[in-house]
Amino acid sequence: MSESANNTGIGTGTGSADTVAARLEKLRDARVVVTGGGGLVGSRLVALLREAEAEVTVLDRLDAYPEAAHTLFGVEKLGADVVVGDICDRDVVRRLVTGADYVVHAAAYADVAACTRRPDIAFRANVEGTQVVLEETAASAVRRLVLISSAAVYGDGDPGIRGPQVFHEDQQLLPVSVYANSKLWAEHQTRLLLGGTTGTEYAVLRYFSVYGDPQIPKPGSHSWMVAWLSMQARLGRPMQLNGGGVQVRDLVHVEDVAAATALALVEDGMAGQTVNVGTGVPTSVREVGELIAPHFPRSRFVTTPRPAGDPLGGYAATERCRELLRWAPRIDVRAGVERYVRWLSDTPQAVPEWLTESAA
Ligand SMILES: NC(=O)c1ccc[n+]([C@@H]2O[C@H](COP(=O)([O-])OP(=O)(O)OC[C@H]3O[C@@H](n4cnc5c(N)ncnc54)[C@H](O)[C@@H]3O)[C@@H](O)[C@H]2O)c1
Repeated sequence: MSESANNTGIGTGTGSADTVAARLEKLRDARVVVTGGGGLVGSRLVALLREAEAEVTVLDRLDAYPEAAHTLFGVEKLGADVVVGDICDRDVVRRLVTGADYVVHAAAYADVAACTRRPDIAFRANVEGTQVVLEETAASAVRRLVLISSAAVYGDGDPGIRGPQVFHEDQQLLPVSVYANSKLWAEHQTRLLLGGTTGTEYAVLRYFSVYGDPQIPKPGSHSWMVAWLSMQARLGRPMQLNGGGVQVRDLVHVEDVAAATALALVEDGMAGQTVNVGTGVPTSVREVGELIAPHFPRSRFVTTPRPAGDPLGGYAATERCRELLRWAPRIDVRAGVERYVRWLSDTPQAVPEWLTESAA
């Protein structure tokens, strides 16, 4: 893998004559609704869809981050129609999906620890809200909905396997967190409500650990270690390794994730499929810290307890994403971490106030 040529990844592809840009030509003038389009992945996706000349409408509460973060994500500047609202609001969802060609359902209470603390909010956003989006989409003329799920549905995988394990789409799913359970429910409900006679196809994507600028940690989160550890190191604090950082993650850059998601709207082979979006490369949390450390001369590590619901993790089986989605990531973890650290150094205002003000 190597760095891609431009910021959105639109010029990249698995084959030279078959770039992402060429394949996304099908989306020109298509009307695409992106729920959660104001978030980390959503805003990158919206940029890519706009570059493909799709007409994009974002539905987002825009309250997952402090106000300053939304300026960094910059979704208002991408030429999309931004509707500030909740996916539980049936009237708004109906108005937006009526007349749409495609829907990407990415809105979620998207943090494992937050869902553990507030299962009621997780239920409302990830279950009830998803139900509204699915029902209204099923009743519309939308061609395809892409549901954003998570590798969290694999939980700790096969307890009989020691060391990093590969997660295959067909294996038994054992969620170990409220968040993961809500995502698994959404996967099943999508399969049950769409496809068949509704005339609306669906595809499910299981993202692995998404990272890359402008990712900003959320308070009390134990996910998103590239952002967390980089910001701790930048503030001169020890990098906290929960459980010693033995957990394994498959780190996939947000630019690659945006390309995979846009392709899932148009790839014929994706109808009715569930596909991992990962690199197939395991990286332990400690290894992530070790990639960050050289950029901060005074950096050091401290071991902290492993929080409830924090999975041991694994890495993606990538056969399906290569064959059905015809997608492979372009940015490896070394290049991606370097890019993030450089961005952080150019964008010091990205460190949220609550983190600067919190005790070391
Ligand atoms: N970032 C990751 O590592 C990762 C990994 C696996 C899956 N995912 C999934 O990818 C999707 C995007 O995640 P992200 O990392 O961009 O998170 P994010 O928090 O940056 O984006 C989610 C967006 O959804 C919006 N939202 C939440 N509840 C809403 C509601 N009820 N109505 C309307 N909007 C609402 C938030 O305001 C936010 O802008 C989510 O579904 C998440 O579960 C993310």
